[in-house]
Amino acid sequence: MEPIQGEGGVIIPPDDYLPRLRQLCDRYGALLILDEVQTGMGRTGTMFACEHSGVVPDILCLAKAFGGGIMPIGATIARKPIWEKLVENPFLHTTTFGGNPVCCTAARTGGQAFPKCNNFRNVTVNLNLQQKRLKREINIPAR
Ligand SMILES: Cc1ncc(COP(=O)(O)O)c(C=O)c1O
Repeated sequence: MEPIQGEGGVIIPPDDYLPRLRQLCDRYGALLILDEVQTGMGRTGTMFACEHSGVVPDILCLAKAFGGGIMPIGATIARKPIWEKLVENPFLHTTTFGGNPVCCTAARTGGQAFPKCNNFRNVTVNLNLQQKRLKREINIPAR
């Protein structure tokens, strides 16, 4: 699930969307997998969009801004017990270019720099300004 559906029209869900998803997954023993390819790496004002609702997924997917928007790299992050299952068999998933040193260096460097980025305050300020502008100029409702 995406915390904010991107390609479908940047649909911002109600505040209880992720917490209720978490509850459902816990109740039925399902893994909560969040796709933060578009929303991750500070793009909603926190490092990951799920932080706004305090929800911790079981698996988190990253790409795009993870490589600084330039380097083609993605990542799958998982809770320790889930990750340990994945690494039991390292050949479960292989890729031709996976682990490319240049891309990994870009992602690592970006990852180290991101948390120092003024707590993403500029992103939040900019988001609010752009939402107001969209509402004013093309009548797209802001939340
Ligand atoms: C939210 C989201 N998830 C996953 C993907 C898939 O990324 P890829 O281009 O690496 O297949 C995209 C691509 O645009 C995306 O927007």
